[in-house]
Amino acid sequence: MKKGKIYLVGAGPGDPDLLTLKALNVIKNCDVIIYDALMNPEILKHAPDQVEKIFIGKSRHSERLSQQEVEALMIKKANEGLDVVRLKGGDPFVFGRGGEEAEITIDAGLEWEVVPGISSGVAVPAYAGIPLTHRDCASYVTFITGHESTEDSKVEWEKIRSAYHTLVIFMGITKLPDTVSKLLRGDFLPETPIAIIESGTTSKQNVRVSVLGSITADIEKTPVKTPALVVIGEVVKYREKLGK
Ligand SMILES: C[S@@+](CC[C@H](N)C(=O)[O-])C[C@H]1O[C@@H](n2cnc3c(N)ncnc32)[C@H](O)[C@@H]1O
Repeated sequence: MKKGKIYLVGAGPGDPDLLTLKALNVIKNCDVIIYDALMNPEILKHAPDQVEKIFIGKSRHSERLSQQEVEALMIKKANEGLDVVRLKGGDPFVFGRGGEEAEITIDAGLEWEVVPGISSGVAVPAYAGIPLTHRDCASYVTFITGHESTEDSKVEWEKIRSAYHTLVIFMGITKLPDTVSKLLRGDFLPETPIAIIESGTTSKQNVRVSVLGSITADIEKTPVKTPALVVIGEVVKYREKLGK
């Protein structure tokens, strides 16, 4: 029996108009879509009625399918001869476990393809009026996960240089006070600008601007609504002029 193909597809950061034409094409022509909470459900309207749509649940929620269960489901459907779209927020290969899912698919001897999406790491700051680079103050950008547990963190926050540098932190809210104190123990000054962008690119977008020295008190007073992206560096200042 002919086996199906697995497409690892980026749904973009939230604004449904930021879906790529290639993603639209595979969504229209697949048999099954497996999706999670981070992508905008509006996108599912592009799929014909007969396409099976499987929601795997909210992240870190007890009713969510485990990563192993999701992978097993993808493989099962493809082995039944169905073309499967694994639809993920942003880009599947940027903090999206797309690499792991591709490996599993290859190990199962199935055909696969990645369809890159517009990552929230790029689009969310842009919609907030924050350019990630600028010739005057930011020559490099680092995308970092803020999610790792403190004990086994691979990120050496204290060693990060601040000059001409923009940091973009995904999944960074829970550990933000710890992250900020490590940056301040290292090379960063308390005056360094920081933005927290909640639900970026959507109608619920909310941008909070502060400085490293005050942000922990700020978020204690007004808790952050997730999903949220953190941007640290001088580029945050351009929001004053470029933000809408
Ligand atoms: C598991 S990562 C997935 C990233 C995704 N693969 C990407 O390329 O955008 C989830 C994190 O992305 C960020 N994120 C995703 N969508 C967002 C949005 N619309 N607004 C703000 N942050 C967002 C948040 O930091 C969230 O915790």
